[in-house]
Amino acid sequence: MSYTLAIIKPDAVSAGRAGKILAHLEEKGFTVRALRMMRLNRAQAEAFYAVHRERPFFDSLVSFMTSGPVIPMVLESEDAVARFREAIGATNPAEAAEGTVRKLFAESIERNAVHGSDSDENARREVGFFFSEAERLGL
Ligand code: CMP
Repeated sequence: MSYTLAIIKPDAVSAGRAGKILAHLEEKGFTVRALRMMRLNRAQAEAFYAVHRERPFFDSLVSFMTSGPVIPMVLESEDAVARFREAIGATNPAEAAEGTVRKLFAESIERNAVHGSDSDENARREVGFFFSEAERLGL
């Protein structure tokens, strides 16, 4: 078993889609191992997305991610990073495959409902960003 860091983003939380997304992911075989709801401040959102700092969409992304509560969580499954990325679909919901989370629940390339780690190394970093050592025990 391995794990990935997922975030239900402010667009999906404010639209009341968090429960449906969570149910969808559990049906796809992911087990929730840690979860919280929080509102990111600007410094936190900038740090989380630091790799995108030079991108033209960075300021807008940070504004969006701080616009309301998010739900970060640790999801476990076999080959979790790859399987989660398959389950959520392409970054742009217009290009996401039928039945994926972004196809079903996302609004736009920025307001795309969920985040998922893109590698095991980033999953470790991102889980450590949101969850304390005590919360990570046993993962
Ligand atoms: P995520 O998987 O969280 O990683 C970076 C985020 O930046 C991405 O989802 C989108 O929310 C956002 N993003 C990526 N590409 C673009 C783009 N071309 N325009 C606007 N936002 C983008």
